Amino acid sequence: MTALTDAAADLDAVRDAVEAGAGTLDASFVERLDAQFPRLHALFATLYGHRADAREQLSAVVGEAAASWSRRPLELRARDAQRADDPDWFQSERMLGGVCYVDRYAGGLAGVREAIPYFQELGLTYLHLMPLFEAPEGNSDGGYAVSSYRRVNPALGTMEELAELAADLRLAGISLVVDFIFNHTSNEHEWARNAVAGVPGFEDFYLIFPDRTMPDAYEETVREIFPDDHPGAFVPLEDGRWVWATFYHFQWDLNYANPAVFRAMAGEMLFLANQGVEILRMDAVAFIWKRLGTTSESLPEAHLLLQAFNAVLHLAAPSMLFKSEAIVHPDEVAAYISPDECELSYNPLQMALTWEALATRDPRLLQQALERRHALPAGTAWVNYVRSHDDIGWTFADEDAAELGIQGYPHRRFLNDFYVNRVEGSFARGVPFQENPKTGDARVTGTTASLAGIEAGDAGGEDRVVLAHAIAMSTGGIPLLYLGDEVGQLNDYSFRDDPDRAGDTRWVHRPERPAAAYDARTDAATTAGRVYQRLSRLIETRKATPEFGGNALIGFGANHPTVLAYQRPGEAGAVLVLANVGDDLALIDPLTLSGFAPEATDIVTAREVDLAHGVALPPHGFVWLRVTPR
Ligand code: GLC
Repeated sequence: MTALTDAAADLDAVRDAVEAGAGTLDASFVERLDAQFPRLHALFATLYGHRADAREQLSAVVGEAAASWSRRPLELRARDAQRADDPDWFQSERMLGGVCYVDRYAGGLAGVREAIPYFQELGLTYLHLMPLFEAPEGNSDGGYAVSSYRRVNPALGTMEELAELAADLRLAGISLVVDFIFNHTSNEHEWARNAVAGVPGFEDFYLIFPDRTMPDAYEETVREIFPDDHPGAFVPLEDGRWVWATFYHFQWDLNYANPAVFRAMAGEMLFLANQGVEILRMDAVAFIWKRLGTTSESLPEAHLLLQAFNAVLHLAAPSMLFKSEAIVHPDEVAAYISPDECELSYNPLQMALTWEALATRDPRLLQQALERRHALPAGTAWVNYVRSHDDIGWTFADEDAAELGIQGYPHRRFLNDFYVNRVEGSFARGVPFQENPKTGDARVTGTTASLAGIEAGDAGGEDRVVLAHAIAMSTGGIPLLYLGDEVGQLNDYSFRDDPDRAGDTRWVHRPERPAAAYDARTDAATTAGRVYQRLSRLIETRKATPEFGGNALIGFGANHPTVLAYQRPGEAGAVLVLANVGDDLALIDPLTLSGFAPEATDIVTAREVDLAHGVALPPHGFVWLRVTPR
């Protein structure tokens, strides 16, 4: 085939080629093809237009999408239709996410299925099961080194079980979310073995170089991501060649400059789509395109690639969504979020600044972020979380901090020291992750309860856990709980005795399901019971509060040095959130609140509040107040 020409001519050629292989296309597919093809074509032209095989690869991708659609189970097509009628479904105040490792939380897929009644009790509508695919024995970066996207790790179950689980979850009102780990594969993936062996068609699947010349050149400008594992971005092969591995040495980055890689990965994505997955968590999006002389992070082509995947997904599984995992500068995080690219994104800035505010007792950076960096395009949403399975990186913008007189570098150092308990009087019991003596860079790991003070026995610990969740649940988008945190689970240091895990301190905050804490969740005499009941009350309240749907948020000047304040507008008024990150009682005076009618309701306790008396917030306390303008 020839290279790309113009979209209309190419569409005809591609359609002919696809129909020659797959038979007549069904009408709804053709409709979507007409809608998506021009942009897919334009993206291919930019990414691959210079290559002689560009049209052939594009045609193959469309052919796979057509075949995948024709195999799409009826109930998933029904879900596609339902979502088309309710495109804002994921922006509802009723949304609540949970995330866990299948093995650690439930032993396997069968165990996850047994936990569905609990997920319903909690109110989940979204369940992210962390990587469950075939992966190397021993260290597989918690499954983030995938050896086959079409096989479930046999220790956890089978692909059929995953599809059945997706169906059961769907019936329970819960959307299944899995990772799409598309930046890299494990070194045991068939593509990797073929590439090393020089099997025709696979030579350019990865970035493999004969000697250090190119690796040295690239490493002039790229960051070290896992310096504890290997310096730089490359690792040696047994035969002396070098392969690009951003993360662990056994996670090899794919070469997306080769359209055959895009085509192959699109095929894996479509396979997962038809298992009943509703949201794909797009792992490590910032790293997918490399260029010499740059950081090789968040390059323009990374966005084009995601858009191309998005177009393919819209052809064959139109109700599915992408969630971007970009833990980078906030400008770059935002650049991935659009209905044409990733409809959802983690909100690492809000997450990190919540912890920042708790450590400093100063809410200004978080307040500024909410006022300046919270707005999103229509048709997209944040995923707001208190912590994830990964470390906390202090990804705020130095320029934002400078406006408040805060210097980025020393401030990050302080936060790292504070959260790993190297600061006198710290309530936190985190552990350092990937401390890099060359750059002074480091990140922090720890469960919410341990970071917030429960492990240290700090009197404010439980309140901080609840406060952090009260923020995540009230700013908009989808709040996401790390399962176990809702019963106050502490750090687990046993990873240090496991040779496959000892080198990766993130395992400190990835414990097994805390069965005893779950058993105690109705017992208010226990930490687990108190945390669970307070969070459950917040979840219930959120689901009954339409103002918490969507993303609209307006800052509010609370005139108090430790109080974060914002409004979530509704039809008649707003919900005013006041959150005290300080250790002392905070009084918001009546004058500050005088723009509102004095009659307000605390929607968590359902009590009436008279704003004419001001509002008193206990240390680490908060209110969600329904207010009306005066
Ligand atoms: C993402 C995952 C992280 C993993 C990395 C490499 O950042 O969240 O756990 O180590 O990608 O796949």
